[in-house]
Amino acid sequence: MAILAMETSMNTLSRFGLPLVFGLIACDAATVAPDVEEAAVVCNLAAAEITSILTLPSTPFDYDGQPVPTYIGVDNTGSNPITDYGATLGRVLFYDRALSSDGTISCASCHQQAFAFSDPSDASTGVNGTAGRHSMRLVNARFAEEDAFFWDERAATLELQTTQPIQDHVEMGFSGQDGAPSISDLVATLQEQAHYQNLFTCAFGDAGVSEVRMQQALAQFVRSIQSFDSRYDEGRAQVGNDGVPFPNFTAEENLGKEIFLRRADFNGAGVRVGGGAGCAGCHRPPEFDIDPRSDNNGVVGVLAGVGTDLEVTRSPSLRDVVKADGSSNGAMMHSAIGGLAAALAHYDSIEPVPGIDQRLTPAGQGQQLGLTDVETSALVAFLRTLAGEDLYTNVMWSDPFR
Ligand code: HEC
Ligand code: HEC
Repeated sequence: MAILAMETSMNTLSRFGLPLVFGLIACDAATVAPDVEEAAVVCNLAAAEITSILTLPSTPFDYDGQPVPTYIGVDNTGSNPITDYGATLGRVLFYDRALSSDGTISCASCHQQAFAFSDPSDASTGVNGTAGRHSMRLVNARFAEEDAFFWDERAATLELQTTQPIQDHVEMGFSGQDGAPSISDLVATLQEQAHYQNLFTCAFGDAGVSEVRMQQALAQFVRSIQSFDSRYDEGRAQVGNDGVPFPNFTAEENLGKEIFLRRADFNGAGVRVGGGAGCAGCHRPPEFDIDPRSDNNGVVGVLAGVGTDLEVTRSPSLRDVVKADGSSNGAMMHSAIGGLAAALAHYDSIEPVPGIDQRLTPAGQGQQLGLTDVETSALVAFLRTLAGEDLYTNVMWSDPFR
């Protein structure tokens, strides 16, 4: 046993130049205790217990060194900075179906890379039925002033958000209620698995699995998912200011940008008489994150049914709301409005509802933007420029399971 452990640490030594051995030093025979196998877990992404299950690079991807444009000014990382090994562990957890009570659902079932980490189904399917709201894109979640998550902002941090779907009866099922297993059962199961002992050692220095560590690793992975290779970014970098036309944009895209940015001028009846559409007041460039002070936007319908959902005041970043070619990343808003045209039609003529943001009720009336066809097409053309390419294909965010 001691020999095996020593071989592993030699293997690590040759790959990294440094043995990352935690706990007992395996080759000191005098200190070998009966539980040496557990105590001498090493960090080695090329170890057999990893490579038999997962395709991971032997040196982790550079999650923490990804370039961020200088004009990006907000970051909700807090006290859990991305590390390469932490995000690697988060990636494995994100794609692991063992995180659901019947072994069929992973985070990625409802957050699919090909759809900007959202779900093409209006209502995502979990282990016990369908979720009550549409899934959210996980793009640039880090680059937002708002640090509360979910459509209704009920998770105070991204860390706290990440284990809620695991404990949700419908979504992943480790609820601990009515005979269902609990998250501590899941922690105990993961603790027994050799590849997780290795991966937790890489991320945290020892093999101990806990809910807090799962939250940290999952949040690091989610925060690592970034998209800054859009045509918007190309133009923004060239002129350094949203307010002037971008040289790489068509005339239509520049018109759409102007309409998105400018406030609307309304008459006393809430009818637009000039200006733009005022979108940037809530979806703020260059991050396109939601203003943390936003109230609801008047979309209060619930999925597949009657009723209202007045608490929804968050939107994911509008980056990658559709793909660059205009194709869909799934429906929009919590009630799964289909497509940009429908989303714009909503803002064109607002019905005041309880809790609606005052920016959408000029003079106490629901706004009537009266967008022309030319303006609507221009807005759609501009929103497409917010999509990148790398997000959809980069291996560092893909399924690592063989
Ligand atoms: C069964 C489908 C499903 C599964 C599985 C699932 N999610 Fe979600 N996710 C959703 C839905 C639906 C929402 C929006 C829910 C709401 O607001 O009530 C959401 C919201 C989120 C958000 C909030 C994004 C934001 O901008 O506020 C994050 C982050 C997230 N999920 C991460 C995860 C992680 C991590 C896992 C795995 C541990 C996971 N999800 C598993 C469907 C799912
Ligand atoms: C008062 C703040 C506010 C203003 C102004 C505003 N929005 Fe929104 N927007 C929101 C909120 C809140 C949501 C989430 C709504 C929901 O799910 O019910 C949202 C959602 C969206 C979505 C769907 C995002 C997703 O991930 O599904 C799009 C697209 C959108 N808005 C575009 C626009 C455009 C274009 C304008 C200008 C015409 C605009 N918004 C003006 C607050 C605002």
